[in-house]
Amino acid sequence: MAKIVGGFASSHSPLMSLTGELWAVHAQNDLRNSELVRPPDGELVSYEELLATADPGLAELANVETFTGRVENIQQGLNKLQDRFEAVNPDIVVMFGDDQSELFFDDNMPSINVYWGDSMKVLPRKITPDMSEARKMSALAYGTKEFDYPVDSELGLHVIESLMDQDFDVAHSRYMKEEYGGSIGPAGWYLQKPRSTQPRPFGLPHAYGFAVARWFGGKTPPILPITINTCYPPNWISPRRAYALGQAVRKSIEAWDTNKTVAFACTGGLSHFVVDEELDRLALKGMEEANAEILTTLPRVRLQSATTEIMNWVATAGAMGSTKMETLVYEPGYRTPAGTGCGCACGVWE
Ligand SMILES: [Fe+2]
Repeated sequence: MAKIVGGFASSHSPLMSLTGELWAVHAQNDLRNSELVRPPDGELVSYEELLATADPGLAELANVETFTGRVENIQQGLNKLQDRFEAVNPDIVVMFGDDQSELFFDDNMPSINVYWGDSMKVLPRKITPDMSEARKMSALAYGTKEFDYPVDSELGLHVIESLMDQDFDVAHSRYMKEEYGGSIGPAGWYLQKPRSTQPRPFGLPHAYGFAVARWFGGKTPPILPITINTCYPPNWISPRRAYALGQAVRKSIEAWDTNKTVAFACTGGLSHFVVDEELDRLALKGMEEANAEILTTLPRVRLQSATTEIMNWVATAGAMGSTKMETLVYEPGYRTPAGTGCGCACGVWE
């Protein structure tokens, strides 16, 4: 029987990689972001509309000095996460991640997909001379060298068969294509405009790449990437289903005949591109208390756009069951007076 040895999670926002000065540069993008969902009503609004109803106190937090303090805490949290991951040193890492116009598009968008090829290529993001320093640093955070990252295909097959037995009708994929591209949306909720991506080579998606590059400590334990559609309506996963998926994956791993140690891991979230501190703290409380009631009833209206990546954490929490998460860091990363930014967190289940 496989031994489950821990769970590990972090956000993967550019705010987890940039300096305080570059937070300010990155914040300029928010003025034209068409994915600003206002908490708590979940209305899709413009930057100006968001600013008009924002807490005036937020303006005092949008300065480089505050950003730099948050960056220090975040980097300490990431360093602790790396140390804890290295100390546990799992043989295999089962990862829950989302896909944001990377490998999946509306020609065929799985709600749950298990990748069980022998490896997944890590392809560093292209750096071009016209990119700002903030963009370059964000791109480098997902990996800087090209290589084939190992995937435990034997475990992948076992998990797929076990999930099917447990009434989870999962999609699977077994090899990578030369190029990925297509369109997504519109499809209701916040996704009101179509977005197109020209076909291009693409490797390990960002939700996995950030963990490998930032806190796997140079180690390359085989992973099992389980991709859930958190972001895109209409078949985006609910908190209830994400939690149940985690539980079912745990059950399948516990039944796997092996001496290997297995950890769970995820990245993403918390709330963005508008910080919803109340929602972040509710989700963290649910994980710190191993409270399934809180995690399975997180309000859908406040889980839109990339905030839905919290579902990667919910799936991990489902897999960790009654084990409580320890929050290593949480910084509500407000970067403009309108309250745009990202809830930045790291956590460990041991
Ligand atoms: Fe993301």
